[in-house]
Amino acid sequence: MDFSNCEYDLYKSYSGKQPKLPIKYNGKSYILKYREEDKGQPVYSDISEYIGCKIYESLGMEVQKVIQGTYNGKSVVLCENFLKKGEVLQEFSNFTNSYSKVKDKRYSFDEIINTIDKHQSIFNKEEVKKNFWRMYVVDSFLGNFDRHGGNWGFVVNEEMQYSKFSPVYDCGSCLYPQINDKEIDRILKSDYEIKRRIFEFPTSQIVTNENRTKSSYYEVINNLESDDCNKAVEWFVENIDLYEVESIIDKTENLSDKRKKFLNTMLNERYKCIIMPAYEKIKNIKEKNTEINHLETDLLKKQQQLRAYTEELNDNADEIRNYESIIKGHIEIKDKEEKY
Ligand SMILES: Nc1ncnc2c1ncn2[C@@H]1O[C@H](COP(=O)(O)OP(=O)(O)OP(=O)(O)O)[C@@H](O)[C@H]1O
Ligand SMILES: [Mg+2]
Repeated sequence: MDFSNCEYDLYKSYSGKQPKLPIKYNGKSYILKYREEDKGQPVYSDISEYIGCKIYESLGMEVQKVIQGTYNGKSVVLCENFLKKGEVLQEFSNFTNSYSKVKDKRYSFDEIINTIDKHQSIFNKEEVKKNFWRMYVVDSFLGNFDRHGGNWGFVVNEEMQYSKFSPVYDCGSCLYPQINDKEIDRILKSDYEIKRRIFEFPTSQIVTNENRTKSSYYEVINNLESDDCNKAVEWFVENIDLYEVESIIDKTENLSDKRKKFLNTMLNERYKCIIMPAYEKIKNIKEKNTEINHLETDLLKKQQQLRAYTEELNDNADEIRNYESIIKGHIEIKDKEEKY
């Protein structure tokens, strides 16, 4: 689809680093994003935006709708403006600004969770936390290095008095957009190079509570410290379909076969190395816990049985003592009778 003749949507404007055009297409409002260049090399952020959003969509998460095409001969992606009448997007960094002034829009897990707790009167905080962690886990799969506080947020309608976790947007920094074709050959030949791009980088813009360094997706997901994160990992494994992911990549336009192969390889590896080990550990712990629960119920039953037996024994002992005193009585009577 060629969008070169689309009308500008002059009432709309969007912030952000990347150049973008607000346009109208089929009566709807879109943000048009180009494939950019860096030092003469293409940056495939249009592809990342498209595939990233499609993968989010395949998981059933709310995400902006995306369409691929061209604009004046350049590869582009159109992102539908998801705001309805009366709604505004409050990026997390604006939302939290009243509590903490952070220049680089990088927030720690604690800052995020505390801000969500502070706003619990205007949204369902459990739902928001659930979506936040799901987004973190999907981003770990996609290798997103730019989910700073301006790249996620809340849809707010003050007049109608509602607010909710926003549909996911800005996925242009997923899926290694800056890697060029020469590098792809080198990386695919080397397991070491593949693994570095999983365990060492990209890291997340969400920083650690301890020293505010960018968090490692592998470490956060595999330390199992957050129950909400663990639930998101389970949700991810139970809902991701890697064949569908492959098919999304296969059907993507303006993308070479070499890049398709690269993306498929990296996503399969990220799944295997980051998400699956955490999932296995969570499953193991759950199995152990059910085992412990079973053992505890068994133990309780046995203790009840033991109490019942003890009571029965005590009853029997009482009965025996009764008989003994009766017999003793009889013997005494008999002895007396014999004396006379
Ligand atoms: N689909 C959308 N509907 C409504 N508003 C959007 C949508 N996508 C983005 N925005 C708004 O426009 C801003 C800029 O868009 P986006 O984050 O995609 O651009 P960017 O240039 O990639 O940003 P960055 O500076 O993070 O690299 C967002 O921060 C958000 O406020
Ligand atoms: Mg952005």
